[in-house]
Amino acid sequence: MADPKREELQVKAKRAILVSVISPSSHINKEQALDELKGLVETAGVKVVGTLVQSRENPHPATCLGKGKLAELKSMVKPVDAELIIFDNNLSPSQGRNIEEETGTIIVDRSELILDIFATHAKTYEAKLQVELAQLLYFRPRLKRLWTHLERIEGGVGAGRGPGEKQLETDRRLLDKRVAELKRKLSEVEKRRERTVSNRFQQLTVSLVGYTNAGKSTLMNALTGADVYIADQLFATLDTRTRRWELPHWGEILLSDTVGFVRNLPHHLVASFKSTLEEARQADLLLHVVDSSNPEVEHHIKTVNEVLEEIGIDYSNALLVFNKSDKVEDRSKLDVLRLKYENAITVSAVSGEGLDRLSQAVIDRLASGYVIVEIETPVGNGKLLSQLEEHSLILSREYSSDDTRVTYRARIARRFLPVLKSSEDTEIRIHDDGDQGSPNQLQHEESIHEV
Ligand code: GTP
Repeated sequence: MADPKREELQVKAKRAILVSVISPSSHINKEQALDELKGLVETAGVKVVGTLVQSRENPHPATCLGKGKLAELKSMVKPVDAELIIFDNNLSPSQGRNIEEETGTIIVDRSELILDIFATHAKTYEAKLQVELAQLLYFRPRLKRLWTHLERIEGGVGAGRGPGEKQLETDRRLLDKRVAELKRKLSEVEKRRERTVSNRFQQLTVSLVGYTNAGKSTLMNALTGADVYIADQLFATLDTRTRRWELPHWGEILLSDTVGFVRNLPHHLVASFKSTLEEARQADLLLHVVDSSNPEVEHHIKTVNEVLEEIGIDYSNALLVFNKSDKVEDRSKLDVLRLKYENAITVSAVSGEGLDRLSQAVIDRLASGYVIVEIETPVGNGKLLSQLEEHSLILSREYSSDDTRVTYRARIARRFLPVLKSSEDTEIRIHDDGDQGSPNQLQHEESIHEV
């Protein structure tokens, strides 16, 4: 069958013309229209040999571009020896086929390009399964066009003469079988992942999310000293990575990095990356990292929020982090942003500026979901000790002078308070004052209740 991961369609090192159809009411102007696509194709290793932008109320239903522009595109191909035409738009299967027939050149749309990049960058077993699944789902309605690609490239039957319907039927059946197999394998991996993530409930997790290239991996390294792969490329991080982060006066928490987002993320990819984003879903706090030197910063913030919403992650309490402050040329723009997003923290993962403030802001946010408990109980109360060990961070233990009683001080999430059952010989005091619980800092005891 035609393999969607076929060599022939890999865009690397190919000479391409970039095309975008934008709406006149779009915030992006014609000059900027291809900026992001250029970043994407650079990541994919494509050589750009020409560009074409059309401003149109709606993309043409049959050919995306209007008639005149399509003819212009066709005339551009030969002089620059283009092997591919890459659209910034997502094309329907028939639009792709029609443009291909008209220009006699292979057409790649935005989804296909992103899929190609994801396929190159997927490293783990899970990410590879997810990308293959997304590719198959993308290619299924396009099988016919795919055969045309193959025939043209192999110089065989000649363009335009598609495979027999029978062959297509066989291909579809094989493809559906593989899709079912991939889904089964993924659901096994997902179950394992959910177990691992939820088993870590006693350890706090902060998750980094953000537009691709915002600097999440760099920030993770700066905060944890971890050696995460960093590249000035889009989607360098396709798999979630989790590292320990030692917060001053708080202790150790987990910090996880996630896949970068991008506008118009292909739907199949959003769905297949849900499980990779499980870390973000279960995180106690999201850090939304933004490249504050990028002129599109506000649109990036919006896109990330939209993708989070689409995959069902609540972003309302996310902490915005304006990264790359060292790269911002016009500081007044940063000031305007900071006024607009007043709780945001400005940092530079490269120079280290603002990282202390970021740690403090994270502690403040985390502390609001926690209380300090003081529990006095007989030394032999093993059940309570094991509950504490499982659900809290024990900060100190003090023994009575006759060694019969012990007082634990522990930090515990409010949601776990009900698991601590008091008994006649046990006294539980809750310090509900947002105290961050560094030893010997317990000063205000606002409320004392029995649990
Ligand atoms: P994805 O993997 O695509 O999601 O990217 P990412 O958000 O993890 O970005 P990454 O950390 O890979 O950084 C992208 C580029 O930005 C790299 O070239 C970094 O060196 C650069 N970068 C990150 N943080 C800063 C910063 O604070 N200042 C400057 N000047 N460059 C930065």
